[in-house]
Amino acid sequence: MSSPRETIHDPFNSWKFLVFPTIKATDIFSLFVKATLLVTTVVSISLLFYSAFSNQSQWLRCPECNGVLLSGHRKLTKGNNAFDDSYQETNVSHILFGVGGSAKTWNQRRHYCELWWRPEITRGYVWLDEKLPETETWPKTSPPYKVSEDTSRFKYRCSYGSRSALHIARIVKESFELGLDNVRWFVMGDDDTVFFVENLVMVLAKYDHNQMYYIGGNSESVEQDVIHSYTMAYGGGGFAISYPLAKELVRVLDGCIDRYTSFYGSDQRVQACMSEIGIPLTKELGFHQVDIRGNPYGLLASHPLAPLVSLHHLDYVQSIFPGMTRIDSLKKLIIPYGMDPGRTLQHSFCYDLNRNWSVSISWGYTIQLYPYLRTAKQLETAFRTFQTWRSWSHEPFTFNTQPISHDPCERPVVYFLDRVESVGRGQTLTTYKRHVEEGNESCDRQDYALVQAVRFVNVTSSTLKPDIWNMAPRRQCCEIVNREKQVVEVMIRGCKQFESVTPP
Ligand SMILES: *[C@@H]1O[C@H](CO)[C@@H](O)[C@H](O)[C@H]1NC(C)=O
Ligand SMILES: *[C@@H]1O[C@H](CO)[C@@H](O)[C@H](O)[C@H]1NC(C)=O
Ligand SMILES: *[C@@H]1O[C@H](CO)[C@@H](O)[C@H](O)[C@H]1NC(C)=O
Ligand SMILES: *[C@@H]1O[C@H](CO)[C@@H](O)[C@H](O)[C@H]1NC(C)=O
Repeated sequence: MSSPRETIHDPFNSWKFLVFPTIKATDIFSLFVKATLLVTTVVSISLLFYSAFSNQSQWLRCPECNGVLLSGHRKLTKGNNAFDDSYQETNVSHILFGVGGSAKTWNQRRHYCELWWRPEITRGYVWLDEKLPETETWPKTSPPYKVSEDTSRFKYRCSYGSRSALHIARIVKESFELGLDNVRWFVMGDDDTVFFVENLVMVLAKYDHNQMYYIGGNSESVEQDVIHSYTMAYGGGGFAISYPLAKELVRVLDGCIDRYTSFYGSDQRVQACMSEIGIPLTKELGFHQVDIRGNPYGLLASHPLAPLVSLHHLDYVQSIFPGMTRIDSLKKLIIPYGMDPGRTLQHSFCYDLNRNWSVSISWGYTIQLYPYLRTAKQLETAFRTFQTWRSWSHEPFTFNTQPISHDPCERPVVYFLDRVESVGRGQTLTTYKRHVEEGNESCDRQDYALVQAVRFVNVTSSTLKPDIWNMAPRRQCCEIVNREKQVVEVMIRGCKQFESVTPP
């Protein structure tokens, strides 16, 4: 265990502190996560459609963004194979959000929640631990609030935790007991959870809400999963409980709270109940607890092939774009997200075989260029720009990571999102600008000089149709369509048959 250290704000200066010679793979867990991706419900696809929504500007704060989908897209099989024609696709109105909050701190914490909350569109409440002081007015941009019932009758025996876990654990019950119409999913989150609502709808629409589902993700830090649980959906990453499961949960929840008194969190108490009901966690790779320290760059730049559903703990990591505040960084990511939600952070790799360059795209966020051919395996593995949550150690994580080389001639030349525009017919153009590291640690080899001369990488792609997530996942391909000294133009598209990222 290493001691906590200063977080260094510049992402690429901090890289040099994170270089370690060995990689210890956590292959087995990563395989397990991948396998769970494949376990899907029996569904059949019906019509897919986008519905432009008119009130997007306030939320996206992006005048250029076209309307994005807010509708699910699924006709489920009922019983085994009989179609139910009256089935309506899951949309945002079917979700009831429950956000855990505190009256004393809401004003400092609300900024993340207000990034994704859309008045009149999203349904739900912030649940406060106590009444708001009379002098305080509730902001209109926040979700409406309710005050949780008194929990003083419950026991709490975790020496290092907080009793607020009790009122937060009961949010699902209090939400259920409101008896609101047409709720298919109860989605829980913290006051610093950022949801990507279209993607959340897209993910939940894959599942039959008439069955009992508990959907979310683990912590990224193995030490956390060992201490808390691998079988639990981490509350900060957010989790979803289908209506019929919530109904069962409500019956046993208060009993669980009094049985599992030594647990730290609200999410563990909920999971303990799930264990009593016998419902396992369905893992979805887009929920992010973000139990890491340092720079989240490596985590975000290697997002798995699944829609980005949530981010959390953003006050505990460096901002995701260099030289910007944390909130402004998120607003920046939300611009491409608004144009093509499902593609956000999705990888594509291609080679420029005229020059033997490798291009790694994390759409809407960053691009890495190398003046030589790296394998797809190397390109997809996260750079270890971050440490573990509890002990600030260099590993292990629940996915594979690679160290950043000491040698600048083995590092990528990095670009960050610059501009986003719609170029018609469902196509977007995203451009990425070279990020110049501070100090003089760049490679001075001739092949690197050619890459460093590239100021922009401009990428076109078509908006991903949400049905892509109902099919067997495959990373999309890209190709270099134009090369100039200062600009490389790349097109992302579906892969052709027998196309792979294979060096010649
Ligand atoms: C969502 O689906 C319901 C049917 O359950 C429908 O009445 C409603 O208009 C839909 N809302 C949106 C925003 O598409
Ligand atoms: C690219 O690499 C291949 C294999 O290493 C080599 O044969 C070829 O000459 C290189 N091409 C260029 C343009 O450097
Ligand atoms: C820049 O390079 C010089 C000479 O190699 C070295 O002494 C100096 O420490 C370097 N500066 C930084 C910030 O790396
Ligand atoms: C690439 O993007 C940059 C920055 O947005 C822009 O100035 C440039 O004109 C673009 N180049 C091409 C060829 O599209």
